[in-house]
Amino acid sequence: MQEVRQSSHGHFSSRFVFILAAVSAAVGLGNIWRFPYLAGENGGGAFVLIYLLCVLLVCEPIMVAEVMLGRRGRQSPINTLKRLAYEEGASNHWKYLGWLGVVAGFLILSFYSVIAGWSLAYIFQTASGAFEGASAEAAEAGFNALVGSPARLIFWHSIFMMMVIWVVANGVEQGLENAVKWLMPPLFVLLLVMVGYAMGAGAYWQAVDYLFRPDFSAVTPGTVLAAMGQAFFSVSLGMGTIMAYGAYLPHDAVIPRTTMTVVACDTLVAILAGVAIFPIVFAAGLDPAGGPGLIFMTLTVAFGQMPMGMPFGTLFFILLTVAAWTSAISLLEPAVAWLVEHRRMSRPWAAGIMGVLAWIVGLGSALSFNAWADYTLFGLTFQGLSEYVSTTLMLPLGGVLIAVFAGYRMSRRASVEELGMGDGLAYSVWRTLVRYVAPLGVIAVFLNVVGVFG
Ligand code: TRP
Repeated sequence: MQEVRQSSHGHFSSRFVFILAAVSAAVGLGNIWRFPYLAGENGGGAFVLIYLLCVLLVCEPIMVAEVMLGRRGRQSPINTLKRLAYEEGASNHWKYLGWLGVVAGFLILSFYSVIAGWSLAYIFQTASGAFEGASAEAAEAGFNALVGSPARLIFWHSIFMMMVIWVVANGVEQGLENAVKWLMPPLFVLLLVMVGYAMGAGAYWQAVDYLFRPDFSAVTPGTVLAAMGQAFFSVSLGMGTIMAYGAYLPHDAVIPRTTMTVVACDTLVAILAGVAIFPIVFAAGLDPAGGPGLIFMTLTVAFGQMPMGMPFGTLFFILLTVAAWTSAISLLEPAVAWLVEHRRMSRPWAAGIMGVLAWIVGLGSALSFNAWADYTLFGLTFQGLSEYVSTTLMLPLGGVLIAVFAGYRMSRRASVEELGMGDGLAYSVWRTLVRYVAPLGVIAVFLNVVGVFG
């Protein structure tokens, strides 16, 4: 038996707390803001189906691998990879996989904070009654007025980033645990209420048809890549968040069962968000392919029309902001844990430095909705490009490398020991998925997009 290794950053007090933390890292803007808008841009059902397949066949096995590496290394992702590569006799260059993750997390956080800022702004706008009786046109105008104003976007982006820095500065046990414990149940209940409302008030069957009847004629390699990137993004995979949290997982927890719970909760929330939002999109005559503003306009119409819409909507945006908050925390954690280990810096300093850097990059995203809207590369604004490069390219790439390390570089004995599920059929299924299905699947999607398969 190996000695039980400890993390210098502290531990979660139980497996359940790890699940809470991982679920709250996973559930965020990705589920409620990004999933519906991407599904809308990519034609609905086929996108949803491909997304679900990616989650099950690619993301779940890689998540097992990521938690496994984290718990075995017990350090920030960069140092964990360094340590494990050394122990397994693999190249020291594996640490760059940790760096890839830090950069991806950073880039994601920079635009994530801007979008979370929209949610913050909507708390106050909804509470003030500005949306009372709003029509689709009024909702669109309200949204455009917000994103058209650099000052407002930068203001809310700054407030949100300060909230993130504050929690990360307070450390794993106090900061994270407390932030996560109170959020998930009410958010979940509220989503259910929204689904109920949408069933009554919206074009419900049209939405169900749209979301769940796949039309493969519209599927392009780009659709598949987008769905895969979204799967990684939504479960927080491929950049070290899950590895960093894995380092705080108690040593006796069985990993696959734990990750299955996380993936299932995350997927459920995304589907619920879709089912809550699309009936209203169709009933109000909004464009499903309306882009990043989709849920903000849709929800405004819903809250504007429904009884008690004002208090209810306010509560919804509060919960959405908190969900985004707990996710953003997890984006900063790997980089901060590394600074603390490497530079022996105090947590508050490390959180402050990293947070301010992400804030500065985020200014580019805030401005890309207004002053810099015309500066584009490959048809994407600064924000669009940050989102595409980090989520659609860097996360799947990081995921493949994690799968390769866990499946080929780590000895069978080490992975059997760390996963805690024995060496039976379940283990073999996992090993096959992580060695063959997941990496080859991701690579095939990439090659298809580049056009290698014609
Ligand atoms: N999954 C979160 C969401 O859906 C975002 C997120 C948090 C994330 N940590 C991550 C995405 C790590 C990728 C990697 O909102």
